[in-house]
Amino acid sequence: MEGFVESAPLADARVYERHMIRFVSKTERPYFHLTPLVGWMNDPNGFSYYKGKYHLFYQYNPYATSWAPMHWGHAVSEDLLHWEHLPVALAPDAPYDDFNGCFSGSAVELADGRHLLMYTGVASDGRTADGHIRPRQTQCLAIGDGVDYQKFEGNPVIDGSFLPEDGSTEHFRDPKVWREDDGTYRAVVANLATEGGGQILLYRSADALAWQPAGVLSRNKGRFGQMWECPDFFSLDGYDVLLLSPQDMLPEGHEFYSGNGTLCIIGHVDEETGELGEESLTSIDNGIDFYATQTILTPDGRRVMVAWMQNWDSITGVARRVHLFGSMTVPRELSVRDGHLYQWPIRELDGLRHDEVKHDGVVLGTDPIALEGVNGRVVDLLLDVRPEDPANLYDELVIWFAQDGRFHCSLRYQPATGTLIISREHSGSRRAFVHRRKCDIPGAPAELSLRMVLDKNSVEAFINGGEKAVTMLIPTDLSADGITFCVRGAGAILDVTKYDLA
Ligand code: FRU
Repeated sequence: MEGFVESAPLADARVYERHMIRFVSKTERPYFHLTPLVGWMNDPNGFSYYKGKYHLFYQYNPYATSWAPMHWGHAVSEDLLHWEHLPVALAPDAPYDDFNGCFSGSAVELADGRHLLMYTGVASDGRTADGHIRPRQTQCLAIGDGVDYQKFEGNPVIDGSFLPEDGSTEHFRDPKVWREDDGTYRAVVANLATEGGGQILLYRSADALAWQPAGVLSRNKGRFGQMWECPDFFSLDGYDVLLLSPQDMLPEGHEFYSGNGTLCIIGHVDEETGELGEESLTSIDNGIDFYATQTILTPDGRRVMVAWMQNWDSITGVARRVHLFGSMTVPRELSVRDGHLYQWPIRELDGLRHDEVKHDGVVLGTDPIALEGVNGRVVDLLLDVRPEDPANLYDELVIWFAQDGRFHCSLRYQPATGTLIISREHSGSRRAFVHRRKCDIPGAPAELSLRMVLDKNSVEAFINGGEKAVTMLIPTDLSADGITFCVRGAGAILDVTKYDLA
């Protein structure tokens, strides 16, 4: 790019990753989930469509498989499944704005065709009276051509002076920017209010360079965790949808668990107050390893979401690959039906399917059964289960997968209460972190339809057409590729279709 000056930290990171790439074997990577070029990945950033390709950036430390002052890794794709890594896009190299990290953010195309990245710069405001470094988070820009990005000389473009009185300058991050139909720009940014926890602030701009506050979109009011991270806001199917990731949650039934969680608020914005009215509040994904979502509007009008397929609380427990840590989820198409969020793997995934195996009308009893050709760790499984006798409900459906003689993961469903349980208690994990989650299936249906997408060390399950989703990492060796089924109590009938995806 004309006039582009590569800073020393960016040049070093680019040289380092070019050198290291030869040591990362293909077998370390899943088939169609994005992993970092080398080193550590967390949140998806800058998810956008630019110059005929999808761009997905990510929180990145090329130098180790652990978190450190963040860079932005960069990959492009034509189908959201096959990714090509590009050179690292941002390094923490601006002495005043971001020397402690280029935190999460987003991307949009400018009117003049350039690609704009909006990210959180982390620097410091000196020390507190007791000697602790006081971080300062501001929103910054970098402008580029799809490969090289120059930090904007006017950075930061949104700083502490843009905060409401109760806003913290230490916790002010993760801008999500978009362009309105009239050509102006909006951004939502997460912030910690001194009382009550997270709040989502709205900003507006005519050119995406000069910004103004435009109100508070949503307030936590002491309910869902404390700080809110990674907001995303869009309209979908006649509703206004706010996705975010709260820290430090307390549990509530089977919908929210302690630690880092996700929250989907669906409603309508009140034209007078500018606040989002709350008609539905749920987790985005009810599994274990899912955080920090970001969406894109595709050129053909689909709202597609990805997330970091990980949980901050289990990062020390998951088996580390040699050169890589972290991956994205499969991209998911979103829709809202009857005020509820639905998600489904992008339709492009159907194009990877081959070698169909079908078994219809299988009678399940208490003895676990394996079905001819139904196994694997890179597979797309479609399952429909119904009671054998509608008057006599089974107690529990049990699916074991990633199974060998010693280990297995499981999905279980108890129709009397509508409880789905995903578990890796017997997966070979030797650490004490979260191994099991329960999730309520709306309406507690006796018939369950399930799609399970496995890609080596992960499973993403979509229940009843995507009304609920549960995502979990699987530590078990890839040779454990068995899948078996049984029911407890009365009998059930199973229809299975399985495709290989590798
Ligand atoms: C969420 C998060 C963001 C932050 C980034 C730092 O996972 O904590 O709030 O921008 O990660 O890497």
